[in-house]
Amino acid sequence: MFKPLGNDFLLHQRLEAPVLSPRASACYTSIQDLESKQLLNNLLTSNDFAKQFELFAASVVYSITFGLRIVTGEEWQIQTSHECLENFVHAAQVGAWMVDAFPSLNYLPRILTPWQQTAERWYEKWANLHITNMRDALKRDGWNWSKDFKKANEAKNMTDMEVAWDLGVLCDAGVETTSIQLQIFVQACLAYPEWIPKAQRELDDVVGDKRLPDFQDLEKLPYLQAVVEENFRWRHIVPAGVPHATTQDDYYKGFLIPKGSVVVPLFVAMRQDEHVFDDPAVFRPERWIGKSSPSNFGYGRRVCPGRFIARNSMAIAIARMLWAFDIRSKDGARITVNERMYTAGLVSGPKHFDAVFTPRSEVHKRVIESSYKSVNKNVAHLLDEVREKLVSTGLSPRA
Ligand code: HEM
Repeated sequence: MFKPLGNDFLLHQRLEAPVLSPRASACYTSIQDLESKQLLNNLLTSNDFAKQFELFAASVVYSITFGLRIVTGEEWQIQTSHECLENFVHAAQVGAWMVDAFPSLNYLPRILTPWQQTAERWYEKWANLHITNMRDALKRDGWNWSKDFKKANEAKNMTDMEVAWDLGVLCDAGVETTSIQLQIFVQACLAYPEWIPKAQRELDDVVGDKRLPDFQDLEKLPYLQAVVEENFRWRHIVPAGVPHATTQDDYYKGFLIPKGSVVVPLFVAMRQDEHVFDDPAVFRPERWIGKSSPSNFGYGRRVCPGRFIARNSMAIAIARMLWAFDIRSKDGARITVNERMYTAGLVSGPKHFDAVFTPRSEVHKRVIESSYKSVNKNVAHLLDEVREKLVSTGLSPRA
């Protein structure tokens, strides 16, 4: 993820690109269908939406990458991933160790540089998770990204560990992001509930109450699409952006930005700009009717490669939750959102808050239960169908 731009970076990008293109991403919908039905069913008995969103997000990417569903959150893979990401966040904090300020300290004898041992231990744990995940995935039934990457020409001169890191990073990057963005959606329901009846009316008109909304319905749901878009704008999960560097001299409004300059795309400033968005603090889907903004996922070479998968996950989960539930605060009162309710750090999401998910009617509840009961939960079968779909779309899976 933090590999500098160069031939090696581009080789890894070429390895990943075929499974992440818009056309390929549209082939994973049966996995997102299963996991969003699981999500709705879980929300019938649990208001712990943060946990359920994490299961949803993790299961989508772990299924596609490793042929492994994440069902309880107790799976050792997801537990270890949590631990490794916590270590990563700690290590990425500038000033976490004295060596950040005085890099020459790294040349002292090992006994005097305990941070190096910590870093090695943390690296080994993470690397071991990735390689074990990949090796297990190669033995599982059904197509998956691990099998696909291993057969790719780009991987021929890579070590197993390099391929395993590509797969692992994709997985790690897809869990917290999607689940936080869904928590932001719930907060928008609690803070600005006036848009919800409009979205539910549209769903009722197009879908009715006898079945769940499906992927095919999405293009007939412009208001719902606008809700998804506004959700990305209202609160950005990387408010302070990921720093990038220019690869050549550039000019902006007559100012020279020399090659090698660090440029920080400050998402929070762009998405809350009063000159562009009227009343930016307000969640107002109407701003996006018939429009979308790809910039939520970053820019240039480092743009989020999972953006097409992420958008499909967000759209189906939001459509189905709005169709299925009334989402309110515990006491039914509107909440006021402020900065203190958000975590600090590179990725920022809502701190714990409560919300109550109530099925919109007995009919809706029965549809949730029966859809969950009847959906094919055999991920190997689903992944073989994904492979067939890739082929019928004109793509060439490598495994
Ligand atoms: C709602 C969900 C998501 C959001 C809002 C999101 C957003 C972002 C953003 C803002 C970046 C930084 C881009 C930049 O540096 O300019 C990023 C990077 C990245 N994302 Fe996502 N993402 C999401 C889901 C996913 C998923 C599902 C995957 C994988 C399947 C993924 C994989 C990655 C990777 C690997 C990077 C690093 C790219 C690089 O540095 O070359 N993301 N994402």
